[in-house]
Amino acid sequence: MKVLFICLGNICRSPIAEGVMRDFFLKKQIDLEIDSAGTSGYHIGESPDIRAIECLRKKGIDISGLKARQLRHEDYIYYDQLLVMDRNNLKDVVNNCPRRDLISKVRLFREFDSNPREQIIPDPYYGGDHEFENVYKLCVSATENFYLTHHFKPE
Ligand code: 4NP
Repeated sequence: MKVLFICLGNICRSPIAEGVMRDFFLKKQIDLEIDSAGTSGYHIGESPDIRAIECLRKKGIDISGLKARQLRHEDYIYYDQLLVMDRNNLKDVVNNCPRRDLISKVRLFREFDSNPREQIIPDPYYGGDHEFENVYKLCVSATENFYLTHHFKPE
């Protein structure tokens, strides 16, 4: 199974989602290929936002080595699931899809949440530590439910 997380800049939400899910599956000793990308090219080559790095460092997860990249057409073919953070991401990722039959791979990450009253992970970029902590919590919850939904078997 190969999963790609997608947000706008690939410096806040999708690197947090990538770090949280990689840590979760590593601890379960389940092999899962995970990457992240942005719909925009604003931050290509940059490290995650320092607030995202710090938020996860406090949880024992290191995402400081990640580098932002932009979503490519090959990603739609290579990855099994393209998980987006909000409805703008969803619109952009669906509109850029190179083949109609690949659109079904694109889903809101929070579709996997147990109580998705609001199905998006809000952009923390103009917020503070509280908003980043909220992204972290939503990613943990969605990751747990992603795991329960997929009935993974240990390697
Ligand atoms: P992300 O957050 O999509 O979660 O990485 C943002 C990062 C940068 C910008 C917006 C959102 N920006 O406008 O530069």
